[in-house]
Amino acid sequence: MSTGMRTWVVVGANRGIGLELTRHLERRGDRVVAACRQRSPELSALRVEIVEIVEGVDVTSDDGVGKLSDHLGGGAIDALVVVSGVLRPVSLEGLDFGVIREQLEINALGPLRVVSRLIPNLSAGQGAKVALITSRMGSIADNGSGDHYGYRMSKAALNMAGKSLSIDLKGRGVAVCVLHPGFVRTRMTGGHGNVEPEVAAGQLLARVEELTLETTGTFWHADGSVLPW
Ligand SMILES: NC(=O)c1ccc[n+]([C@@H]2O[C@H](COP(=O)([O-])OP(=O)(O)OC[C@H]3O[C@@H](n4cnc5c(N)ncnc54)[C@H](OP(=O)(O)O)[C@@H]3O)[C@@H](O)[C@H]2O)c1
Repeated sequence: MSTGMRTWVVVGANRGIGLELTRHLERRGDRVVAACRQRSPELSALRVEIVEIVEGVDVTSDDGVGKLSDHLGGGAIDALVVVSGVLRPVSLEGLDFGVIREQLEINALGPLRVVSRLIPNLSAGQGAKVALITSRMGSIADNGSGDHYGYRMSKAALNMAGKSLSIDLKGRGVAVCVLHPGFVRTRMTGGHGNVEPEVAAGQLLARVEELTLETTGTFWHADGSVLPW
């Protein structure tokens, strides 16, 4: 059932966790603006009167994110979830700075580009919420196994962006959190994991709904526990 939120924007809605978030929202009848680089058959199969697909939204490009902003016009959005991200293994023995840079562009700079571009739409809503899908691999305190240079660095940078955004947007009534989805069976994990994407999506939506200006700037696991920075 809808909990009263009217317009959601999901970035990275064509597959994986983003697709499941969009499906959940469609089922309960909230309007979803589903942004992606390219639509998938699964996304296209959702009810068009509820799910508006915006293609060409590459988070690394101003023009790409501009397509989303153009679609929204001046319209208010109630919740923005940036799910897009990539995981490319980079270890110390084979440091590839190009691959590290790519992850910084997509995972850290991309979400910041999206949020900054949509500030007018977030400000137009009543108590809008932003959730940036990060990873506990971006937690410095939780790093017990090293490795994964580009991914860990990019998610740590995303966490810092999320924290600063929570402070800078509080005066506009916009609450921001960073959320770890769990170890979820998607293409990113090669189908490994201990959580199905639909379960993770339900938990993530519950976290967004609970988010308030009092709890803004928190790093949560999808299961509701607070993660250390
Ligand atoms: N699965 C896990 O266990 C896990 C754990 C921790 C954190 N996460 C995080 O959860 C999020 C979703 O992951 P997932 O497991 O659903 O992965 P996924 O199935 O691989 O999906 C990744 C999504 O990101 C999109 N994307 C990639 N590069 C993009 C770009 N430049 N511009 C716009 N969209 C782009 C992909 O679109 P295309 O189809 O166009 O490539 C796809 O929609 C990611 O941020 C990931 O880091 C996942």
